[in-house]
Amino acid sequence: MTEKKFYITTPIYYVNDVPHIGHAYTTIAADVAARFKRLEGYDVFFLTGTDEHGQKVQQAAHDLKVTPQQHVDKLHQRFKELWVKLNISNSDFIRTTEERHKVLVCDILQNLYDKDEIYRDSYEGWYCTPCERFWTEKDLQEGNCPECKRKVEKIEEHNYFFRMGKYQEWLVEKIKSDPHFILPASRRNEVLGFLEKPLEDLCISRPKSRLPWGIPLPFDKDYVTYVWFDALINYISIHGSLDDIKASGFWPADHNMVGKDILTTHAVYWSTMLKAIGLEPPKNIFAHGWWTVNGQKMSKSLHNVVEPNQLADQFGVDVIRYFLLREVPFGLDGDFSHKALIGRLNSDLANNLGNLLNRTVNMMKKYFDGAVPTPGNKEEEDIGLENKAREVIEEVRTLLEELSFNKILQKIWELVDITNQYIDKTGPWNLAKTDEGKERLKTVMYNAAESLRVLGVLLFPFMPKSCESLMLQLGVSNTIEEQGMASVEKWGNLSPGTQTQKARQLFPRIEDKQAAKILAELETKSKKEDEDKISIDDFMKVDLRTGKILEAEKVKKSKKLIQLKIDIGTEKRQILAGIAESYEPEDLIGRTVIIVANLKPAKLMGIESQGMVLAASNGEKILLAGFDSEPGKGIQVR
Ligand code: MSP
Repeated sequence: MTEKKFYITTPIYYVNDVPHIGHAYTTIAADVAARFKRLEGYDVFFLTGTDEHGQKVQQAAHDLKVTPQQHVDKLHQRFKELWVKLNISNSDFIRTTEERHKVLVCDILQNLYDKDEIYRDSYEGWYCTPCERFWTEKDLQEGNCPECKRKVEKIEEHNYFFRMGKYQEWLVEKIKSDPHFILPASRRNEVLGFLEKPLEDLCISRPKSRLPWGIPLPFDKDYVTYVWFDALINYISIHGSLDDIKASGFWPADHNMVGKDILTTHAVYWSTMLKAIGLEPPKNIFAHGWWTVNGQKMSKSLHNVVEPNQLADQFGVDVIRYFLLREVPFGLDGDFSHKALIGRLNSDLANNLGNLLNRTVNMMKKYFDGAVPTPGNKEEEDIGLENKAREVIEEVRTLLEELSFNKILQKIWELVDITNQYIDKTGPWNLAKTDEGKERLKTVMYNAAESLRVLGVLLFPFMPKSCESLMLQLGVSNTIEEQGMASVEKWGNLSPGTQTQKARQLFPRIEDKQAAKILAELETKSKKEDEDKISIDDFMKVDLRTGKILEAEKVKKSKKLIQLKIDIGTEKRQILAGIAESYEPEDLIGRTVIIVANLKPAKLMGIESQGMVLAASNGEKILLAGFDSEPGKGIQVR
């Protein structure tokens, strides 16, 4: 086995999220780094997975009337399938509900508890259920959760705490003394800023009575582990026990790659947890930026979530992989637009790279019947091309250390452009006209093909399938992994005599007309979604009012209907409601409900209904909409 090891991770994705380009972005970036290192001869471990515990999963499973385990067993597949589609070369896929993960989480908890790194204490705080987080009084904004702005609840309970605070000084020193530890530099300063305030201990448990879906604490079964404490351990649980991890050679990880929103949990919680466990922090935590879509935050309610599956079907996997890493510097925020994607596809991929391959392979066929010729003496232009290739390779290696993917691609495109210029300057079509020129033509065509081979190797981590096709057209039978980066260190690895194949478009252009059609379709789709929304004026047309139920009786021969008499302040209404399976008529009398008062009357089972009562169905039961306390009858509801 090789001595050189490389370990890279993505965050583990919340299993109940629908995968979008934000998730695809981190995973593609990690995949590119992993593939590069494999080409460099490293023994690479590349990990991704899903985060499967916590309140939201429990709630969603409850709503669907399945167990949380059944729910996550189904949902995690969406991520697995997407990674196959996007050609992600992960070594393993960790799920936090797997036994192999839970075992290590419990070992670590017990170990830290035995060492008094974890203690029990009473705790009073403001709890936000959607965010699954406690806040202190001073954190609250107008009494609400500072993150999601929703209502919080005051909770007092006993909990377990990790002595995180005592590692504050060590952590500040670590961050200051190791500039590679947190990247990019702007993010490092953010973490240092956070650490200027006293670092508190971390609450790592939740009472089972409130949240059963989690890993039980080994020393107190009335509690489960806080999701973040559980989830972060995935990066090491994949390697087995603590001894296995040390022996694996894969810790510390070379990069824990994360989005900017989860940098604190990694830089602060994760690093101090590792310190307490007796392991090194990762060599690097890299926080990338966020994607917006046409200038807006991606969200389900805005209907602007960009779905990677659809995008890949429409434009091709490699185009997406290229675009996401080329368009914005890794670390900064970026804006996604289909127009920009089509622009890059047409110019960088189809015109520059695709065309270079196409004309080289076609000329090889025309002048040498497809067989790569033996090059002759080198002239200045040839040396210039070789030197450029060498410079690009060296720079790519350096830039990879800091995960500067977009600069790597810019650099590689310098070689694409120079090779195109080399062909234009040397003019094979003129050389082919004379005997002397034909000798020179051999060198020129050899160099063009060799440059393309170098490009195929360098671009393989970004666009694996397209580069395999490029190699196939060049007639190189070794896979790119077999060729490796070693094969581009010295110019001239392409064997003369190699039989090139038929030229094929690597990246078909999207013509202006077709592009306009795609963009127009997207526009119509988003307009249609806007049209489906109602305006405030439309909403105001609905006369919602409170009403008091005076009488209630089951409708004969109907399983569902109850006939109600409701006092709505100005008059009494007869209304039919489909709630008989969930309510007994006698329990309804005296109850205040919300009704739609200006609905046209309709007949059900021959009885007129003069309005509608509002209720929700969770699939199990129907629940009448109501109020915390009695509002009185005939009140407008807005
Ligand atoms: N489960 C936690 C991570 C635990 S790691 C031990 C989590 N999951 S997540 O699914 O919400 O987010 C996963 C990653 O996706 C984060 O790195 C986040 O930054 C990234 N992105 C989510 N939306 C994004 C964009 N719009 N753009 C870029 N990345 C985004 O957090």
